[in-house]
Amino acid sequence: MVQGQLLEIFASKSAKEINSKRHLIDVDNFSPDEIKTIMQTAKLCLQWMDGKHAPMTMFAANIVGNLFFENSTRTRSSFELAATNLGARVLNLDIDKSSVAKGETLEDTAYTLISMGVNAIVIRHSQDKIQSALSKILPDDVSVLNAGDGVTAHPTQALLDFFTMSQIACDLTDKRIVIVGDIKHSRVARSNILLLKKMGAKVEACGPTKLMPGADELKKMGVTVQEDLNTAIADADFIMALRIQKERLQSDMQLSFEDFQKKYQINHTRLEQAKSKAKILHPGPVNRGVELTDELADDAKLSLIRTQVRNGVAVRMAMMALLFSRRPC
Ligand code: CP
Repeated sequence: MVQGQLLEIFASKSAKEINSKRHLIDVDNFSPDEIKTIMQTAKLCLQWMDGKHAPMTMFAANIVGNLFFENSTRTRSSFELAATNLGARVLNLDIDKSSVAKGETLEDTAYTLISMGVNAIVIRHSQDKIQSALSKILPDDVSVLNAGDGVTAHPTQALLDFFTMSQIACDLTDKRIVIVGDIKHSRVARSNILLLKKMGAKVEACGPTKLMPGADELKKMGVTVQEDLNTAIADADFIMALRIQKERLQSDMQLSFEDFQKKYQINHTRLEQAKSKAKILHPGPVNRGVELTDELADDAKLSLIRTQVRNGVAVRMAMMALLFSRRPC
């Protein structure tokens, strides 16, 4: 039933457009209609997951290579589960034990896996825009899916966040989303801002100046910054807290976590300043007690964190299904 409905989606103009792009580099590669098609496909994939079906059969010819040069729990596991749900095979390369440690280049690593039959490379890397560079040199029948690059982009996170918010608000046009915390080092924030603005939502950034991108980048992003959290969340429909990325903070930044916690931690008391229906998102992993209190992170009425994680599998299934639809068995 779901597989039949997927085939109907694949026949649409918008799905064919997505498929013709071959790769998922960032959300700005897709038009609003194409984003809607990804969401429609993810909805079907979630229905399929809820039905606890056996793996699909129509994508069995695909082999997905997971190349994670940075740590991950959610993205790596959900790409693996998503590919398995589609009936594809998955190869998880253990980067630390691979020949990367002997100096093999990314291009040689990719071509080695492609020679063995891998036709989709999911890659997370600390270097900005490396997926885009890789996608330009690989054979035409190989897809590159960006699982996070440097501070530039994390498209599947933005898509799953959009999907999660759309389950609550249906149409996000004119909805207010406040992104709180370390925007400067956040690929999640950058992809979310691109996507939300493309889809007509109103986005505001909130945090200390030292955790904000420079004025030129903020202008290009088209977001305003509000330093005061109470003011920022007053009219928000969704509040997205971001992880303080300790590994990316420069040692000379001198960020006081205690000060950050006092001014920017989201907790139940703080939420008294917000709309009663405002919901909390966080891409994870959460620095508990810093960006969010334990009580709020675990509050099933207000926190969408676990829903985001589950939706991540459906959205990644959708994205791979749309990219693989030109080569079903
Ligand atoms: N949100 C996110 O990218 O989490 P992981 O680092 O666990 O994949």
